[in-house]
Amino acid sequence: RADVAGDAVRRLTRWCDDFPAPGIRFADLTPVFADADGFTAVIDAITQAAPDADLVAGIDARGFLLGSGVALRLGSGVLAVRKAGKLPPPVLSRSYDLEYGSACLEIPGDGIDLQGKRVLVVDDVLATGGTLVAAADLLTDAGADVIALAVVLELAELGGRDRVGKYPLTSLVQI
Ligand code: PRP
Ligand code: MG
Repeated sequence: RADVAGDAVRRLTRWCDDFPAPGIRFADLTPVFADADGFTAVIDAITQAAPDADLVAGIDARGFLLGSGVALRLGSGVLAVRKAGKLPPPVLSRSYDLEYGSACLEIPGDGIDLQGKRVLVVDDVLATGGTLVAAADLLTDAGADVIALAVVLELAELGGRDRVGKYPLTSLVQI
């Protein structure tokens, strides 16, 4: 399935120059997820990255699609890690730097017991690693045990793998 996933990513990813800022080459995986075989293969391959997770955290916004599919496969819950300003208070938040500017991720500050939860964090793309690290640190600070990070596509030259450091990382395709 990892091969099927990799083939779909290589064949279907939409590469967009100078988006969302000049000099950035954006990898849009939307067509991969819209492809039945591609989406199924991607979900199956990421599920294998942490078969013993008991919560899947998906990062706004394409990580929601991945997280939901993987959680169904695992029989686990799913947690949406939101961009700032979407959730009512109280929230726990973490700011981070992007290739372009900065941003902030948030989760609910009550109503979810993360103590000791074995969490898999998923997103579509790893670039500098700022987004994944912010999500993983946010969940760790909230009491979770972040056991794995998984992305579909790793843009290796941006060094994100080094930045995520202490968290085990799976990527289905490295470019
Ligand atoms: C993209 C991508 C990852 C992030 C990776 O999201 O979806 O979440 O960048 O970059 P990093 O490793 O340098 O942090 P983006 O913030 O552009 O927004 P989007 O998901 O809403 O499209
Ligand atoms: Mg994103």
